[in-house]
Amino acid sequence: FSAFLTDSFGRQHSYLRISLTEKCNLRCQYCMPEEGVPLTPKADLLTTEEILTLAQLFVKEGVDKIRLTGGEPLIRPDVVDIVAQLHRLEGLRTIGITTNGINLARLLPQLQKAGLSAINISLDTLVPAKFEFIVRRKGFHKVMEGIHKAIDLGYSPVKVNCVVMRGLNEDELLNFVALTEGLPLDVRFIEYMPFDGNKWNFKKMVSYKEMLDTLRQQWPELEKLPEEESSTAKAFKIPGFRGQFSFITSMSEHFCGTCNRLRITADGNLKVCLFGNSEVSLRDHLRAGASEEELLQIIGAAVGRKKRQHAELLLMLQDSPPAIPSISSQDPFR
Ligand code: GTP
Ligand code: 5AD
Ligand code: SF4
Repeated sequence: FSAFLTDSFGRQHSYLRISLTEKCNLRCQYCMPEEGVPLTPKADLLTTEEILTLAQLFVKEGVDKIRLTGGEPLIRPDVVDIVAQLHRLEGLRTIGITTNGINLARLLPQLQKAGLSAINISLDTLVPAKFEFIVRRKGFHKVMEGIHKAIDLGYSPVKVNCVVMRGLNEDELLNFVALTEGLPLDVRFIEYMPFDGNKWNFKKMVSYKEMLDTLRQQWPELEKLPEEESSTAKAFKIPGFRGQFSFITSMSEHFCGTCNRLRITADGNLKVCLFGNSEVSLRDHLRAGASEEELLQIIGAAVGRKKRQHAELLLMLQDSPPAIPSISSQDPFR
């Protein structure tokens, strides 16, 4: 595995998340303010060609999984083309997308043909009116249609990301798990994380342990599944059910020790940690004509500076600190 993508703790970064746009057609309360995020001028965003150049370089060095994120990746007009071009990269085994599902049913047949191999869809409630409250837009039925389209086209499991917030949707855990009885879903309950301006506080966060207790009361027979390497999720299932459910315990049990992720923001910055603010502009180096070797040196130096775990996250978990550090909303949660 490439030394450039291995950090000083021996973590090998084989999973690259590329944000295709900061824009989104929803305004989820936990993610974005009503007015949206300040947008980067188009000229500052990576072009499709630049995305491909970078992807090719990372794949050559050992990345075997790329996930396209946003904002909402499916609003980038050339998303199908990007998937098709990524699909040609030898050594890339998985091309995933994390989407809010609004445009999914319409685009999925083309995306599948282009080589899309894995789909994660955000859905925090099964109640249409609550959906509109959480995402501040309409579209519940479109998302459900997207989920069913993904199942019909053979994606398995289709991952559903559900951010759990006390007083909002924590009463729906059972209904979400009940969906996995007949459908090949992996419903992933995500601990609510602080995010610039999302009014996060400890009281709104429901921990993994608490969620598991609730589910165990209904299904005492639930089983833990073996851990997948570098996965963010702890998986469980109810014996006899077709699908499964998981917990993403970003807050209560962080998974920094097995982190294998790197991120490229829509404007071309490399981020070595979701929580970290230090970024290096690969775009600027590309545009200045850096050679492959030079780019690799820059990437290697950034990966080499990656911390063992994020200090601010730890601080935050100790108690309620005076100022809660959080992820910048300039850089949607991806
Ligand atoms: P898979 O590739 O299917 O395993 O999905 P994923 O969990 O990597 O990605 P997804 O885009 O579906 O993100 C789901 C949730 O995972 C996000 O809400 C985050 O809470 C969490 N997550 C993803 N990457 C990281 C990370 O690097 N650090 C932390 N702390 N959380 C992350
Ligand atoms: N806490 C936890 N998860 C979040 N996501 C967005 N904001 C937050 C937050 N504050 C999730 C979305 C999406 C995934 C990429 O990140 O639900 O599925
Ligand atoms: Fe858009 Fe996703 Fe943020 Fe919701 S979580 S506003 S769907 S980017």
